[in-house]
Amino acid sequence: MSKKFYITTPIYYVNARPHIGHAYTTIACDTVARRHRMLGDDTWFLTGTDEHGQKIERAAQAAGKTPQQFADEVSETFRTSWERLGLSYDDFIRTTSDRHKEGVQALWRKIRDNGHIYKGTYTGQYCVFDELYVDAVGPGAPCPDCGRPTETVHEENYYFKLSAFEDKLIKLYTEQPDFIRPETRRNEVISFVRSGLRDLSVSRSTFSWGIPVPDDPKHVVYVWLDALANYITALGYGQKDQSKYEKYWPGIHMIGKEIVRFHCVYWPAFLMASGLPLPKGIVAHGWLLFEENKMSKSRGNIVRTETIVDVLGIDALRYFLLREIVFGQDGSFSFDALVQRYNADLANGLGNLASRTLTMINRYFRGEVPYPSQTGRTPADEAIASTAKRVIAEFDSLFDQYQFSRALELAWGLVAAVDKYIVENEPWSLGEKQDEGSRARLATVLYTSAEALRIVTALSHPIMPDATAKIWTQLGLGEIRKFDLSALQWGQLRLGTKLGEIQAVFPRADKSAVERMHKMEELKSENAAVTSAPPSTSPATQEAAVKPESSAGTKPGTAVPDGKISIDDFAKVELRVALVKTAERVKGADKLLRLEVDLGTEVRQLVAGIAEAYEPETLVGRKVVIVANLAPRKLRGLESNGMIVAASPEGGKPVLASFLEDVPIGTRLK
Ligand code: ME8
Ligand code: MG
Repeated sequence: MSKKFYITTPIYYVNARPHIGHAYTTIACDTVARRHRMLGDDTWFLTGTDEHGQKIERAAQAAGKTPQQFADEVSETFRTSWERLGLSYDDFIRTTSDRHKEGVQALWRKIRDNGHIYKGTYTGQYCVFDELYVDAVGPGAPCPDCGRPTETVHEENYYFKLSAFEDKLIKLYTEQPDFIRPETRRNEVISFVRSGLRDLSVSRSTFSWGIPVPDDPKHVVYVWLDALANYITALGYGQKDQSKYEKYWPGIHMIGKEIVRFHCVYWPAFLMASGLPLPKGIVAHGWLLFEENKMSKSRGNIVRTETIVDVLGIDALRYFLLREIVFGQDGSFSFDALVQRYNADLANGLGNLASRTLTMINRYFRGEVPYPSQTGRTPADEAIASTAKRVIAEFDSLFDQYQFSRALELAWGLVAAVDKYIVENEPWSLGEKQDEGSRARLATVLYTSAEALRIVTALSHPIMPDATAKIWTQLGLGEIRKFDLSALQWGQLRLGTKLGEIQAVFPRADKSAVERMHKMEELKSENAAVTSAPPSTSPATQEAAVKPESSAGTKPGTAVPDGKISIDDFAKVELRVALVKTAERVKGADKLLRLEVDLGTEVRQLVAGIAEAYEPETLVGRKVVIVANLAPRKLRGLESNGMIVAASPEGGKPVLASFLEDVPIGTRLK
């Protein structure tokens, strides 16, 4: 009987298109799933999208779509992106699907019937961005988690008796120390729970974009209860066919560190309350940073995977993410580091080892793997064999602890050792000689190199599925997917194995690769700027509408004649009051400032041409007017999500629009 293995990614919110941060988690899970399949485990890998809640409802509204339309479109971009990356998920769950709704309602009933849900009134603060009730802060206070303003809500809600689970949770973390990994996250969770848990509001009645509460459809289920349940509803929990649920649950959840509390406190408590088995464990990784900041839609510093894939290939992206970033810690992304890693480890490392070893077997042994003779062996040969054996043993346990970068570092230690071994043994000189001793030595050196290559290739298949599959066929070993990784041992490469056709797997990237990737990112955001604008409103008219000095009416293509625009045209422009939170000069650009502005529901990055008129410090804390629905544009590599409104006197410096009376942030100008 094969072992069962179930792994999940978070289900991603559909308020943003997928970027490399989402890809990071999904690729890490994909790697783990592939490895388990290769070990012969019966594996199930789940991902999906989180589509309910106020945040999505508002994002849809801002995009002028129904929440369902909006969710359909964005969810599709996740699937398309994952298909392009060749991710091997077995199922994709959407929280707006009927199967999920059915499962969530079943779970609700179970918790309710077990007596853990009651009705009460909540008056307090809510953070829409985090979809989180924030206790212990007063009206108007910022969210202690993300710093964004909270909203005061007063509603009759259903409550979950979270407070009743304090001791049980502590017992869980204590008895099962690897329930939360890594250790730092576990300690945070323990101290959070120790500080006391309040009951949790698990329904909302002020909006309707959610799953109706069973027997009381005025309420919708709290989006995090809805979302977390995906891990079992996707397996059929609460539905007709529960066989997958019975087969695969419980599993492992891989997540980013910002959603640890939901997964390590709420989710096990919900499951305890329903009497269902708890997850095997929760593994939290750190954040992918871009120039020191978390990469996120609201900051506008996103890198899309397509760019990297087009220039260096999928395997390069996968290898980089798992090798460069210490899993569990934050890590910086940059195109420079990516290309450097690619060249050092893949082009000059594994790629070079494969091509020189296989080329020499072709040249000196007519493309058939030679067998090392028993005589004339040296300690150097033994050293490679014993390094390889150690790598096989340790790779396993590092991988099981999600220490991808250490596992790869270890395996690439073998690549480096073999490289050195080849240089020192000079097979090319041995190949020039015809005596028996030299032939035997050459056979040993090339066998040893090819066998080490086979081992690194097998171990790194889950990380780089395409390139390793190619090396495997070049080694004459057939389909790597069918290889049983649990049987991997030194010395399995057989005498006379006929090599396949040899081609380079990792061509060297030159300096222009970095430049090309930067360019592609900028082009993408310019395209987005054009395509996401409503068809009847060109970016030019959007700008015209807010710049009083330019003659909007003379622009071609305006629907209303004689230099006027219609009220509908104006209504397309979303002007809002925003609060400047940070401001700084943009390096190498005299006129530009990078601003972060708070719109009440989100914080965004803008790049504004006002550096000659305003010192950055004087802007912080000031309220400004921005065009909130302008498609993103990139300026000096920074994404600008909106435009600041200013009077621009002829020949003078821009003057920011401002108000004499106080206006709440987020207010729309009409
Ligand atoms: O939180 N670095 O969805 P989400 C690393 N719907 N990982 C990143 C990242 C970055 N810069 N950006 C995103 C939600 N991620 C909820 C989850 S689960 C029941 C509900 C990854 O769209 C990382 O895995 O905000 C993070 O936890 C997840 O995307 C957040 O995705
Ligand atoms: Mg998030």
